[in-house]
Amino acid sequence: MLLVTGASGTVGSAVLAEVIRAGVPHRALFRSEQDAAKAPAGTEVAIADFADPLSLKRAFAGIDSLFLVCSPIPQLVELESNVIEAAGDRRRIVLNSALGAGDYPKSFPSWHRRVEDRLRAAGNPYCILRPNSFMQNVLAFYAPSIRAEGAFYSALGEAKICYVDVRDIAAVAVQALRGLHDGETYELHGPEGLSCAEVAAKIEKNAGIPARYVDIPEEAQRQAMLAQGMPEWQVTALLELQEYYTGGKGGEPDGTLERLLGRAPRALDALLQEHAAEFRRAKG
Ligand SMILES: NC(=O)c1ccc[n+]([C@@H]2O[C@H](COP(=O)([O-])OP(=O)(O)OC[C@H]3O[C@@H](n4cnc5c(N)ncnc54)[C@H](OP(=O)(O)O)[C@@H]3O)[C@@H](O)[C@H]2O)c1
Repeated sequence: MLLVTGASGTVGSAVLAEVIRAGVPHRALFRSEQDAAKAPAGTEVAIADFADPLSLKRAFAGIDSLFLVCSPIPQLVELESNVIEAAGDRRRIVLNSALGAGDYPKSFPSWHRRVEDRLRAAGNPYCILRPNSFMQNVLAFYAPSIRAEGAFYSALGEAKICYVDVRDIAAVAVQALRGLHDGETYELHGPEGLSCAEVAAKIEKNAGIPARYVDIPEEAQRQAMLAQGMPEWQVTALLELQEYYTGGKGGEPDGTLERLLGRAPRALDALLQEHAAEFRRAKG
């Protein structure tokens, strides 16, 4: 029996969908009753909080393998460590980490690295997935300002990113949950390195609307994010993560994901076609 944590989130919901497609007995962990009530039919649910070890113990009854993901918050190390602790040393843990956990001592990747080290030391069967930036970020972060102004803004300059579709991460996660990748750590890149200008061109092509990338100084991006109400720690972590890419990392596909999937990873063009309407301004 598999357990999918973070089932209300971007990656966890994709893993849950993939587990259901694979027809594997499973349970999904939600933090709130409201989210649990929206679970797909046929999915057994558990309500638990990573901050509450007793709730985790209950959620883990009868579970052999679990997918572990948490929001990118400063408490991530402590919360995911609680899960590893509560899981005991027999259950397989497939950890959603992040690209850069191997070599970048800053920002989100450095937090994930601390959890990775904890997991490796715990003695459980494990697999660690280090995804590159999610393609779904393009929808979440860029669509609103493209709808409003036909443009999106950042200090990424010419940096290239191999965006990866979370559904491909989920496909590898389910293989790992079934024990096919014990002891492995994989960096998961999408199929092509794309600059922001290239992403804008793809949005134009697939959504049929004008879309521009505007490069701005890092300080202007910091002030814009703070003005939107983002907490300082998050602004700093996001800007430090950008520096990983502007420093020349994360822009080269390496074939690992294709080898694991046995097919080409999903391309950004395909995702943009599926979600073209999200970039268009509502009429009326
Ligand atoms: N975005 C990227 O491009 C990218 C790339 C590589 C790696 N990552 C990593 O991937 C993770 C983000 O994944 P995501 O986009 O799926 O995040 P998400 O949509 O924010 O989902 C996070 C999930 O964690 C759950 N969660 C948070 N705190 C919890 C707690 N105390 N107890 C139980 N559940 C809790 C959330 O539940 P609630 O709904 O109840 O809050 C939610 O289901 C982060 O660790 C990030 O660093 C992201």
